[in-house]
Amino acid sequence: MEKKIKGFLEEIAKYSASDANELEQFRIKFLGKNGILSALFEEFKALPPHEKQGAGKMLNQLKTAATEKFAEIKKEIESLAIKDSDKSDLTLNAVHGVYGSRHPMSIIRNEIIQIFSRIGFTITEGPEIEDDWHVFSALNFQPDHPAREMQDTFFIEQNPDIALRTHTSSVQVRLMQSQKPPLRALMPGRVYRNEAISARAHCFFHQVEGLYIDKNVSFADLKQTLLYFSKEMFGADTKIRLRPSFFPFTEPSAEMDISCTLCGGKGCQMCKKTGWVEILGCGMVDPNVLENCNIDSTVYSGFAFGMGIERITNLKYTVKDLRLFSENDIRFLKQFENNI
Ligand code: PHE
Repeated sequence: MEKKIKGFLEEIAKYSASDANELEQFRIKFLGKNGILSALFEEFKALPPHEKQGAGKMLNQLKTAATEKFAEIKKEIESLAIKDSDKSDLTLNAVHGVYGSRHPMSIIRNEIIQIFSRIGFTITEGPEIEDDWHVFSALNFQPDHPAREMQDTFFIEQNPDIALRTHTSSVQVRLMQSQKPPLRALMPGRVYRNEAISARAHCFFHQVEGLYIDKNVSFADLKQTLLYFSKEMFGADTKIRLRPSFFPFTEPSAEMDISCTLCGGKGCQMCKKTGWVEILGCGMVDPNVLENCNIDSTVYSGFAFGMGIERITNLKYTVKDLRLFSENDIRFLKQFENNI
C-alpha cells in the first residue's frame, strides 16, 4: 500500500490543469466519494495493526497533498478568469475627473470681501426671513410711508409682520443691537423682491452691505472708503461720482457711479453713452436709526453702503441675462473655471 501511495504522491506533485473541467476530473479521481482516497481508507481498515501506523501517516499525507493541489489550481484558474474579463486597455490616456468650479457671483463676492477685509471690515450675517421691525421700522421707514413701496416685498399672508428681507440692511440693525461701537462690518446675503422675472430683474438677488460706526466718522470717510474699493475692484484708473439720493435710513444719502469699465468714460452702450454706471447706494446712518438700536447719536456717527453682487459681477463679466446666475447651466458655469 505504501508503494501505491508514493506513486500517487508523485502523480499529484506533477499534476497541472488548464481549466476548471480538467480540475474537476482531478477532484473526482482523488477526493470524490468513489475516488482513490476513499478506496485507500477502506483498504487501510483491513491492514494488520503493525502496518497501520506507517500507512496511516502516508495516507494523511496523500489527502493533504490532493486537497492542497486542488485549492492551488482552483485559485490559479479563477485569477486567470478575472484577468480575462478585465478588457481595459492600459495604454489609453487617463480619464480626467470633472471638477466643479466657483460660481461667478461667489468669485465676485469673495473679491469684495477681501478688498474690505484689508481695511478692517469683518463679516456679519443674518436671517433671510425677517420681521417688519428689522427690515423697515428700525431703519426709519415710517408706517404707510411710500418709501416702503420702493421695495416690493414678499409678506406672509397669515402674519404680515413676517417678510422675506428686501435688503441686507436688516443685518445692520441686528449688529448695532448686539454689539457696541466701534463697528466695521460687511453683510453679504440673499434678498427678495416681488419682481417679474426677466433678463434684467429677478425675485431674488444678492447684496453686500457695509456699515461703519465710530466716533467722528464723516462723509469724507465714506467717500474715501468707496474710492478705495472702486479702484481695487475695477482698476486704479476708476473714478467715482456721488449723486444725491434718498434712503430712509441714511442722511444725507447718495448713489454712487463709477466711470464705465467698458469705455473708460467715453460713452458706450453699457453706460448708455453717459460714461458712468451706477453701482451702489450709500449715506451717513440716520441718527434715528442709531437711537432705535440704542447707540447714542450724540457720541457716534457712521456710514453705510449697499451694492448688488449681480450688478458688480455683470460689470466684470458682462453677463447679459440675470437668469443665467440661477439656472445652473453647466455651459455658463464652465466659463468661470479658471477663476478662483
Ligand atoms: N438697502 C439699500 C437698498 O437695498 C441700499 C443701501 C444700503 C443704501 C446702505 C444706503 C445704505 O436699496
